[in-house]
Amino acid sequence: MPRELFNSPQKQWVREHFWLPAILEFKARAAGQLKYLTFAGPKAFDVDFFTGKQIFNIENVRVWEMDHTAAAALKLKYGANFQVVVGQAFDLVKSAGERASFPHSVINLDFTNGAFHLKRPWYIPPKFELIDRVVSAQMECAESFLLLIAFAATHDVDNEYGKGFVQKLAFDIATRFGHTEPLFNLTRDAASWYPQILVSVVPCAVIRLGGEHSYDSRCIGKALYYPYGSKKTGMVCLMFSFTYDNPALSETSHQTSKRMDALIVKRQEESLGLPLTDVNKLLRSTATIVREPRRKRSRIRG
Ligand SMILES: C[S@@+](CC[C@H](N)C(=O)[O-])C[C@H]1O[C@@H](n2cnc3c(N)ncnc32)[C@H](O)[C@@H]1O
Repeated sequence: MPRELFNSPQKQWVREHFWLPAILEFKARAAGQLKYLTFAGPKAFDVDFFTGKQIFNIENVRVWEMDHTAAAALKLKYGANFQVVVGQAFDLVKSAGERASFPHSVINLDFTNGAFHLKRPWYIPPKFELIDRVVSAQMECAESFLLLIAFAATHDVDNEYGKGFVQKLAFDIATRFGHTEPLFNLTRDAASWYPQILVSVVPCAVIRLGGEHSYDSRCIGKALYYPYGSKKTGMVCLMFSFTYDNPALSETSHQTSKRMDALIVKRQEESLGLPLTDVNKLLRSTATIVREPRRKRSRIRG
């Protein structure tokens, strides 16, 4: 079978068994139609999958795409009225035009590169600045939502500027929560354990960003997959629910931040206990189970 970009069996598993159940649960509690903001890629497999399952109507799908050719392919596929905006998400989230398109119910930041890739020293990695701005745009509309994030997670994808943030996060988590595993792995054998380190530290950073915008932010799923079993590309997928916790207008900002701070710590601690699904391992074990009866039958025959 030919290998297709962004459509490995592992990625399909993520759509069907990881993203879909979370979105269905969110949809069951939501009033009205859901709006979807996504990085769709040139073929929009996620858009086809979710619209096919009647999760979103195509009019409620908006795509941010930095690649002109991919954006043109999407227009060709879905027609001129399809909402695809060309540009870097980092810039788009700041633009007045895009801010007017908020809020969204499900936001899928399905990145192709690393979470901690910085071109030069900067106070916050751009992907986290983007998430911060996305959360702020949602907060202005007081909207609860689901955030899906995926990023490349092999050790070589993040550069030295970025790895400093990972070190600091791992150290912070070890000292505040006594959760030393990420720091231990980072200092002993970072190359082998990098994806596992990221699934521990990144949720703590995202939960903090949500909490600072008055969101009760929970990490609700962690998965790791290697497309087509290739060890060169590991992809980490994380899911978060953001519930807007409308602060009382009579509350001082100090009271709000004290209350949210306690919630952030609780949600961070919970996230550290959330298991990681190894998609490749799971698919391999399913394949073994399917093959099992055939082996038994041949033994009986023999
Ligand atoms: C992994 S693919 C999307 C696959 C799709 N979500 C699916 O499930 O089939 C990511 C797409 O987003 C685009 N992209 C990645 N980072 C981006 C960014 N920072 N801003 C805008 N587009 C981005 C890439 O060009 C690529 O076409």
